[in-house]
Formats: sequence, C-alpha cells, structure tokens
Amino acid sequence: MRHVLVVRPLGHLGVGQEHQRAELVAMLGEDRHVEVREGNDQLDAVLGDGCGESGYVARVVDAGYEAICLTVDLQVFGLRHRDARHGFDTPIGGPSSALVYDDMLSWDDVAWVRERTPNLPLLVKGILTAEDAELAVSAGVDGIVVSNHGGRQLDGAPAGLTVLPEVVDAVAGRVPVLVDGGIRRGTDVMKALALGADAVLAARPFVWGLAVDGEAGVVDVLRILREEFENTMALCGCRTVAEITSALVTPA
Ligand SMILES: Cc1cc2nc3c(=O)[nH]c(=O)nc-3n(C[C@H](O)[C@H](O)[C@H](O)COP(=O)(O)O)c2cc1C
Repeated sequence: MRHVLVVRPLGHLGVGQEHQRAELVAMLGEDRHVEVREGNDQLDAVLGDGCGESGYVARVVDAGYEAICLTVDLQVFGLRHRDARHGFDTPIGGPSSALVYDDMLSWDDVAWVRERTPNLPLLVKGILTAEDAELAVSAGVDGIVVSNHGGRQLDGAPAGLTVLPEVVDAVAGRVPVLVDGGIRRGTDVMKALALGADAVLAARPFVWGLAVDGEAGVVDVLRILREEFENTMALCGCRTVAEITSALVTPA
C-alpha cells in the first residue's frame, strides 16, 4: 500500500495492527515490509537477478510473514494520467520513475519465487483469465487473486468481478480464489462470494478511513463493512457463508 504514507505517517502500521483484532489478513505492499527492508532500497522489489542479489524473498520468509503475494500486473507502471495531472508521485525514496519494474516478468519468475518459498503459501495477484489461472495453478501457487489493480493499470481491462466466474470454473477448487477491486459495501462482498470467490480484498476504503481518523478510521471501515455484510446475509436468508451461492445473483 505504497501511498498510505501520504495519508498519515505510519498509517500502514495501523492497518497491520487492526487486522489482528478483526481477524482479517493484512496484505502489505512491497515497500511496506518495514521489518524486511534495509534502509530505503526499493530495488528489493525487483524480481529475477535483483531479487536474488538482495535476498528479498529470503528476508520475507525470515521476517515471519505467513504468505507471499506476487503481483503480476505491475510489470510496468500503467499510464496513470490522473496522477500525472495532479503531480502525484510516490512519497517514498524518490519518484516512481526511479523504481525498477521488470517488464520481462514471466511464469518462470513465478516458478523462481515458488522454489524459494517451499514452506510459505504463494499467491499471484492480477489474474484476469481462465488461461492465466490455469498457468498459475500449474506453476504451483496456493492462491489466486483476481484483480485489475483497481482499474489503475490498463484502461479497458475487465473488472475482476466480471471475469471471476470463469476463473473460479477453471480453478475448480484446486486453490482458493480471491478477488479485489471496488469492494465498497457489504453487498459487494456478498456479490463476490456469490460469484465464487473464497475471500475478498479491499484497499482504498482503508486509505480513506486512515485519512479521516487514522487507526480509528480503519476500525470504522471494518465495522461498517462487517455490519453491511452481515445485514446482507440475513436479508438474503444466509445463516452461514457456505449458504451464499450463485443463485443469489443474476447478470445485470
Ligand atoms: C495506496 C494503494 C497502494 C497499493 N499498493 C499496491 C501494491 O504495493 N501491490 C499491489 O499488488 N497492489 C497495490 N495496490 C492495489 C490494491 O492492492 C488493489 O488491487 C486495488 O486498489 C483494488 O482494490 P480497491 O478498489 O479496494 O482499492 C495499491 C492500492 C492503493 C490504493
């Protein structure tokens, strides 16, 4: 969550602590691995040779993280015209143009990370097709995050929710399928689960919560999402999450 620092210094740490109380999983962006980082070397995020040299994956493992999530739709930065118009850039260690991304990222890199994390669940984030989901499962991942990066990478890419059913069909229960992008209300959580997701992720709502009231704002966002989701379940006649099925949703 690179830009959380813009909202409130050390805000990401608030997210990290709060998730434990709410029994949620916090996923931290590559530059949030404060315990893993040495100084400010953002090149840690580079895969392949750079990653091997800095031992980033090894340090993630050593730092006691419980899973590693490899984002595969950020091999280069998308053309974020709105950010450019607003003069926005990453606040950490210099302009985002100074960050090195790997436009040669391939499935070999997934296998490379897999080899180095034999005892840690590995998820890939940024899958949008059944074909890539199949490749991800073949590469030995433990979970798939269906995501178009909040629509901020490639204009015109399909929404995660649109392609979720085809990915869920292709994966056929072999690994958990998560989805993100536009989860704003409890009803969004409900729709995602009804379309076959095992779990959902949310990003920007927590940033907004942080901006409004720091850690308390994050707590509030979690509370609202939970209350809305439970209310939706009740009104749909679902007593348990297992009772949420595709029968609850119809194509718009
Ligand atoms: C401030 C911010 C920082 C993000 N940093 C990362 C990141 O480091 N790695 C990543 O895979 N996605 C990152 N994302 C994308 C989110 O994980 C997510 O895919 C996207 O925002 C869609 O979810 P949302 O609609 O709930 O925001 C970031 C999003 C935001 C808003």
